[in-house]
Amino acid sequence: VSQENQSILSASEWVTKLYHHLLRYTKDGKEGYQYLKDRGITDETIDIFQMGFAPNVKDFTAEFLQKKGFHQQILVKAGLLSLNEDNSITDRFRGRVVFPIRNHLGKTIAFGGRTISDQEPKYLNSPESDLFQKGKILYNFDLSKRYIRKQSEAVLFEGYMDVITAYQAGVKNAVATLGTSLTEAQARLLRRYVDTVIICYDADEAGTEAAYKAAVLLQKAGSHVKIANMQDDRDPDDFIREFGAEAFQDQVIKSSLPFTSFYMKYLKKDYNLSLEGDRIQYIEKLLEYLATIESPVEREYYLKEIGDSYNVSMDSLKQEILTNREKMG
Ligand code: CTP
Ligand code: MN
Ligand code: MN
Ligand code: MN
Ligand code: MN
Repeated sequence: VSQENQSILSASEWVTKLYHHLLRYTKDGKEGYQYLKDRGITDETIDIFQMGFAPNVKDFTAEFLQKKGFHQQILVKAGLLSLNEDNSITDRFRGRVVFPIRNHLGKTIAFGGRTISDQEPKYLNSPESDLFQKGKILYNFDLSKRYIRKQSEAVLFEGYMDVITAYQAGVKNAVATLGTSLTEAQARLLRRYVDTVIICYDADEAGTEAAYKAAVLLQKAGSHVKIANMQDDRDPDDFIREFGAEAFQDQVIKSSLPFTSFYMKYLKKDYNLSLEGDRIQYIEKLLEYLATIESPVEREYYLKEIGDSYNVSMDSLKQEILTNREKMG
């Protein structure tokens, strides 16, 4: 690690402690604390994730770190301070609840800050640097690693708050991407630790689309994929707050669907199934996918479902699968 990065890591460590202390024990952090309480987060969870609050003061962090002997230039580079157009320098995170982002060794390398009012953007993150590359990090991987190994299963979320609330609800093998799509590097990282990844994204259109893309990447990397049973446009954090930990574990995580079931539903969006032509195309497209499944039992299971739903004979479905498999070589 270069001297400069060493210095950035050290500043990040101080800032983590500062914001966390303010949130937990002082008046300056009370708004942030209240915000998390309103979202059902316990003191213990706040401590585990070292969540904090950055006061809405333009140079609170700057002053604190300069007293500790850090150079302004480094702090700007670390993204803790922002250089404005008029060359003035202000704290980057102001009036936000702050989530330290730790690397896989547990060292804080960046922050995500959530507004507690209606400031835009909702989440403000540290800029990328050679220390912090979003596409290579999974949020909470350091803490979840041992649970992931033990269960040989990881649950992948979209957001920080989803991970934190899930963890609090007893789903501790929880990780998230950092506001971007899952990358190949992240898929490979997960593959080294688990057989199965459960994707638990928001149940909206964007979440469903992202879940499909993530599933394809994870399967390419060699993982089994299941899709959590999230419904009604909620996200996991909303669900847990509304229905509780047990419902989340039983109805969402344990009721995950195999990727194939998810895909059969997902693919419908491209077709108007009340039209015969579309129906046939939909089934043919599905059969292309089913042909890639190695287990005959699993194939037969889905073929039967298609046969029943669309009134097609098993013989013709099997015939088409055979043709598809021959084409695959
Ligand atoms: N995100 C981001 N910048 C934004 C919005 C979102 O980086 N302006 C990232 C964050 O990592 C966030 C994730 O995308 O956790 C998922 O976004 P979203 O579903 O909108 O946020 P939630 O996690 O549901 O946030 P909250 O519950 O706090 O509203
Ligand atoms: Mn979303
Ligand atoms: Mn969400
Ligand atoms: Mn939301
Ligand atoms: Mn949310």
